[in-house]
Amino acid sequence: MTTADPTAAPAAEAPKPRLPNYWDYLQMSTLLSLQGGLEGDEAALAPDELLFIVVHQAYELWFKQVLRELREAIHLLGLDRLDEDKVPYVVHHLRRVAQILRLAVEQFHVMETLTPQDFLSFRDKLVPASGFQSFQMRELEIRLGLGEDQRERYGETDALAHIKSLADSSPGGARAWSAISAARADAAAGDTLVQTVEDWLGRTPIEGSTPGSVDDDQVVDAFLSDYLASLRAWQADQLRDLQRAGLSKPEELERRFAASFEAAARFLSAEDLPEGLSPSQRAGRRRARAGLLFIESHRDLPLLAWPRMLIDTVVEVEEQLVLWRNRHARMVERVIGRRVGTGGSSGVEYLDRTTSARVFGDLWNVRTLLMPRDRVPALRSRSYYEFQAPTAP
Ligand code: HEM
Repeated sequence: MTTADPTAAPAAEAPKPRLPNYWDYLQMSTLLSLQGGLEGDEAALAPDELLFIVVHQAYELWFKQVLRELREAIHLLGLDRLDEDKVPYVVHHLRRVAQILRLAVEQFHVMETLTPQDFLSFRDKLVPASGFQSFQMRELEIRLGLGEDQRERYGETDALAHIKSLADSSPGGARAWSAISAARADAAAGDTLVQTVEDWLGRTPIEGSTPGSVDDDQVVDAFLSDYLASLRAWQADQLRDLQRAGLSKPEELERRFAASFEAAARFLSAEDLPEGLSPSQRAGRRRARAGLLFIESHRDLPLLAWPRMLIDTVVEVEEQLVLWRNRHARMVERVIGRRVGTGGSSGVEYLDRTTSARVFGDLWNVRTLLMPRDRVPALRSRSYYEFQAPTAP
């Protein structure tokens, strides 16, 4: 055993490891130095301008997270066209998107504490800057799958062309345009949420049959024609009950029900889609719609639990986005009335028009066709969709 030499010099103290801390990790000094507005100086801001900047920045941070979740969901859903185990993870990411958007809808209460006159005290210096230039919102629309023909224009202005025209003249422009370009390239390759959901719906087993099975076309045809026959019979009962009630003209009711049935048949045969689609695109949409109708009609079956959750969550995401647009428009109406926006649009009138587009039109439209459970034709292959008892080793 050796003993320490009491006369030896003390060993040099090892440098203390640099421990992580809250403010450096979150880059608080940078974050808190970003609210200087056009002047780059918080002291020069109008009294309520800090609130205006903070609220916008908070929204943009949430949009950043939403985009991250959305990209991940699209990636997983499109990853391996055969691996349905990914669906719960997709639902997980999309639920988070819906939850953030729900919070974003609520956040407008904070913006509404800005009175019209307080906003007017600094509004004019912002012209022509506007939320219209929020490239993250545009990326979100593109990644969801909003068609370019669905995007509202104002006057001659198209939001994407507008961002492109600003890209060269502002320091953040290149970043804005590269985000839009990347999203557009992905969309052109089919990597949008609407396209990946449609592809996935197209793979839904209908009466146990999947695309590629020898008689899949016949199985799908039989499912759809049985469904339509049942729908016709149910509508006839509804028509008879309404005519008995005598509240509307009988021929008017008859015309309305006939139009509704015709619309349902056209939807299920995909004949309502634009002429430009190729036969295989039309067939793909028809298979996807049949899959959607199958899941919605038999949503209580164990095997369809995750599929129905995915559909519900996608609808929820779009519902929250529409509510966001609506809530933003009401907040704007409260703060600036019906005046022209800083971006030059008709303001509230323009914003209200943006609330009518639906990216996931099929998911909304199928609801018009649904019937009570006892009217849905019975399944021929119920056991395929039930939990299987484990087999003995
Ligand atoms: C006092 C507060 C606000 C006012 C008066 C206002 C007003 C407007 C107006 C009038 C437009 C239409 C384009 C234009 O002509 O400028 C617009 C668009 C927009 N605003 Fe706001 N806004 C406010 C707050 C916000 C906040 C907090 C956000 C959060 C990010 C936001 C995001 C957007 C977006 C994304 C658009 C584009 C909508 C579209 O084209 O679909 N706005 N805003």
